[in-house]
Amino acid sequence: PTPVPVVIAVDGPSGSGKSSVSKAVAARLGLAYLDTGAMYRAATVWSTRRGTDLSDVAAVAADVAAMPLEMGVDPGAPGVTLDGCDVAREIRTTAVSEAVSTVATNLDVRAELKRRQRAAIDAERAGGFSGGRGILAEGRDITTVVAPDADVRILLTASEEARLRRRALDVHGAADATAVEATKDQVLRRDRDDSTVSQFVVAADGVVTVDSSDLDLEQTVEAVLAVVAEVTGLR
Ligand code: DC
Repeated sequence: PTPVPVVIAVDGPSGSGKSSVSKAVAARLGLAYLDTGAMYRAATVWSTRRGTDLSDVAAVAADVAAMPLEMGVDPGAPGVTLDGCDVAREIRTTAVSEAVSTVATNLDVRAELKRRQRAAIDAERAGGFSGGRGILAEGRDITTVVAPDADVRILLTASEEARLRRRALDVHGAADATAVEATKDQVLRRDRDDSTVSQFVVAADGVVTVDSSDLDLEQTVEAVLAVVAEVTGLR
């Protein structure tokens, strides 16, 4: 008997391979998938579109409280719809990547998005996209704040060198010294900003660390699936 619904929480820094790994694991297990970073990105697009100064904490919080965001939770095609329009591409632009930390460090925004993330998790426990099999949610504070009660909690880490190499490949299609140098500042600055609001560098109590530094995508997926199988029996 499969112990469903199952809730899997995955945290980690950028460049740990978190999103690709999480989508693949959710797809293999027939689970819904929630990309919480995409929600902070969508909030950034929304407030920017409304002309709000992102450093105005109260104004951004008010925008986000009324943000018409729908998160698709199909791991094969996780759509992000803002006010009826698909913004999946827009949320990945450099401008958004550079501005998102300001929004993600807004504590009222965090409280609102946490509420929505918990609602998405509860919807999948009750049926939803997964038909009640459950959900994998990934981000920075899922194992600690959003779903500390998750059945499986994983911190996906990778050495700084591996993370810079992957980011350079993502952004420039190459991982030579020049490409790494071009993305280094952004990656390191975002790590620093992100870690002011959530602690995802060292695993919290009860959180299993998976280090992907020397693993490719498929090997990392297998490592995460092995942890899930060991903890829940789900495979
Ligand atoms: O994982 P990502 O690059 O899409 O995340 C975008 C931003 O949102 C990044 O600055 C980290 C932040 N974030 C967060 O603070 N908490 C989460 N649960 C997910 C992302």
